Amino acid sequence: MYFKKEFLDKLKDGKKIVFFTGAGISAESGISTFRGKDGIWNKMKPEELANFDAFIRNPDLVWEWYQHRRNIVNNALPNAGHTAIAELEKFYEVSVVTQNIDNLHRRAGSTKIFELHGNIERNFCIECHTFYNSPELETTNTVPKCKKCGGLIRPDVVWFGEMLPQDEFSGGEKAAEWSDICFVVGTSAVVYPAAHIPISAKRAGSYLVEINIEPTELSRYTDYSWFGKAGEILPKILEEVKKFKN
Ligand code: OAD
Ligand code: ZN
Repeated sequence: MYFKKEFLDKLKDGKKIVFFTGAGISAESGISTFRGKDGIWNKMKPEELANFDAFIRNPDLVWEWYQHRRNIVNNALPNAGHTAIAELEKFYEVSVVTQNIDNLHRRAGSTKIFELHGNIERNFCIECHTFYNSPELETTNTVPKCKKCGGLIRPDVVWFGEMLPQDEFSGGEKAAEWSDICFVVGTSAVVYPAAHIPISAKRAGSYLVEINIEPTELSRYTDYSWFGKAGEILPKILEEVKKFKN
């Protein structure tokens, strides 16, 4: 495996690393990405499902769609990419800043995770804001009602037109700015404000490395773009690190 020297030096000297991840890191776990030829947004219009008005108009339909995605996520396993990131915690101070809602970084063992777009396992009442984890709710395909006030319960994910959770965003942005290396893995990097994070990292002097199966909007800003599957490249990086960090 060929490693660019400059990148290898960064790996040797670096202490803080950040992984900014998107749907592509979970593709090898069998979870569809949003864009691209097999993307979910080719089959479903986001404006019909992933927004608050759609939920109010047809809560059962939106709930059912998320229930379908919960089933996919629960039956999926973290892949070699997620696992390599978790194992890198033995050698670096690692932060994961993810746009994914699928919990696979946590299940792989990563401990410091900023979830920019929420988490499909968490839900809340739109009236009184009581939180419910998915297993506490009946797994029917109709929208559940709050035990306290009877309000509709929605998934705690960010929909179109909604703000990102501020603590997660600012925590993720700081981690990126303080990092020595920022890896951008499996994201088209077109959805803002999330996509600002790797740009902030680069502006603050972090070494920006992209891992993707194809070039993206970000490729022209990166210090190093590496084209291939995340589940194959990340374990190779881990192997290389073990050679000099052990
Ligand atoms: P996208 O579907 O836009 O992009 C997925 C990226 O992963 C593409 O650039 C693919 O080339 C790449 N990819 C696919 N398979 C890969 C693999 N095995 N290894 C490496 N890369 C691979 O997904 P995101 O960038 O995550 O937001 O999308 C960002 C946001 O758009 C999502 O969080 C979601 C969506 O609207 C919300 O729901 C708020
Ligand atoms: Zn309630």
